[in-house]
Amino acid sequence: MLIVNTLKQLNDALASARQRHHRIGLVPTMGALHAGHTSLVAKAHSACDVVVVSIFVNPTQFNNLDDLHNYPKTLTADLNLLFQTNCTIVYTPDTAQLYNAQTPPPPDVTLGIIGEVMEAQHRPGHFKGVLQVVDLLLTQVAPTELYLGQKDFQQCAVISQLIQQHHPHLQLITLPTIRETDGLAMSSRNSRLDPHSRALAPNIHQTLQHIKKAWHTKPDATHWQHWGQAQINTFGDCEYVKLVDALTLLPANSTTQSIVICVAALIGGVRLIDNIKIENTHQKST
Ligand code: PAF
Repeated sequence: MLIVNTLKQLNDALASARQRHHRIGLVPTMGALHAGHTSLVAKAHSACDVVVVSIFVNPTQFNNLDDLHNYPKTLTADLNLLFQTNCTIVYTPDTAQLYNAQTPPPPDVTLGIIGEVMEAQHRPGHFKGVLQVVDLLLTQVAPTELYLGQKDFQQCAVISQLIQQHHPHLQLITLPTIRETDGLAMSSRNSRLDPHSRALAPNIHQTLQHIKKAWHTKPDATHWQHWGQAQINTFGDCEYVKLVDALTLLPANSTTQSIVICVAALIGGVRLIDNIKIENTHQKST
């Protein structure tokens, strides 16, 4: 595994793979790596000749400075974990390396409703920063495949638009959320939970599972949004529970084929997101 910090080193490391038209998989991360990330690396390795993992805590996607400062930074542990995977190259640029005078402005991506709801509403500017850094990484690494985790469901939808509009030859592969044994979605932020909050956090997944199970007996999105919000407020501070169409992110209703229930909540001051999918069997055939 090669660790590179500059664009020149990255280009040198990728030169022969590019010359041979090898498949290059990119797993973009902000570090504090866990089994969710290593599952992406394993999948990338199964399809690609070279697997690049980028580690960069991107300041432009944080709408809250405290959140940026508190974001876990664990580079040594991350590298130790990656040494146990089939990662070929780790790219760890610093801010000056990525954002210099030549850095282009964020790409113009038409997002429509996908860029207006849920995370977009609660974290203004967040997706602009995500699009900017992902576009930069795609330009610098020039992968053939990009691997993302479905825990960041809306981020996957946003980046999918970036790819369709600006990188049409790139393949996007999204993989299911990896969970702790008690159901908590693996997240870099989990390490910031104190023991009490860590014990409460799995209730987010339980709330989602309850709605998923009960949906078919009462397919009423507004009801479950209110119920979920109230339920999460019993152990944390809920920002939103939304039932949306998995393709469009428009509000779901009883006839929506594929629904995603998305949640964002603060547990002990740590912001967590999660989601779960429902395949609707209530759709009437015409
Ligand atoms: O999901 C993340 O870790 C980040 O948003 C990403 C995609 C690496 C961009 O900074």
